[in-house]
Amino acid sequence: MINLIPRLALPLMLLTAGPTLAHTLPDPMEILSGRPAGADPHDPMTAIVAKADAGKPQAAEQEFDGLPAGAGAEETYYQCVACHSVQIIQQQRVTDHRWDELWRWMVEAQGMAEPDPETKELILAYLKQNFSSQR
Ligand code: HEC
Repeated sequence: MINLIPRLALPLMLLTAGPTLAHTLPDPMEILSGRPAGADPHDPMTAIVAKADAGKPQAAEQEFDGLPAGAGAEETYYQCVACHSVQIIQQQRVTDHRWDELWRWMVEAQGMAEPDPETKELILAYLKQNFSSQR
């Protein structure tokens, strides 16, 4: 029985050495983790990321903080960011009717300045087109 201990010792050492060894090897991906791709102009990944982004349909629309392209995007941006970010709009999926109500609430309760009627219609059409639960 006592003889068993030295015979077990070597396999045990080998078993525990495996995971330990794997940890001491440097992970080539570790350098890239923890920071956004393309953040560093000297990053070899920058060119690849830029290429991958090039085909995205809304890439050019970043000037309006990521609002989807389309008639009314610019008007919506300037009408609404006076008080809050566009993210509050982007996360909505409400009915067309609810957009009319939200507009009224923004004017009556929050003091939003009403633009001219054409601009109002343009913005409401844009909101209903892009952030509605009905399409
Ligand atoms: C005069 C200031 C003001 C303007 C301009 C304004 N809002 Fe708001 N809006 C607010 C305030 C204040 C809130 C409440 C924010 C909160 O809950 O933190 C709000 C909230 C919202 C919400 C969330 C409503 C909910 O159910 O929680 C939406 C959607 C919204 N606004 C859309 C718009 C849109 C679209 C425009 C442009 C047409 C706009 N807002 C312009 C003041 C404004």
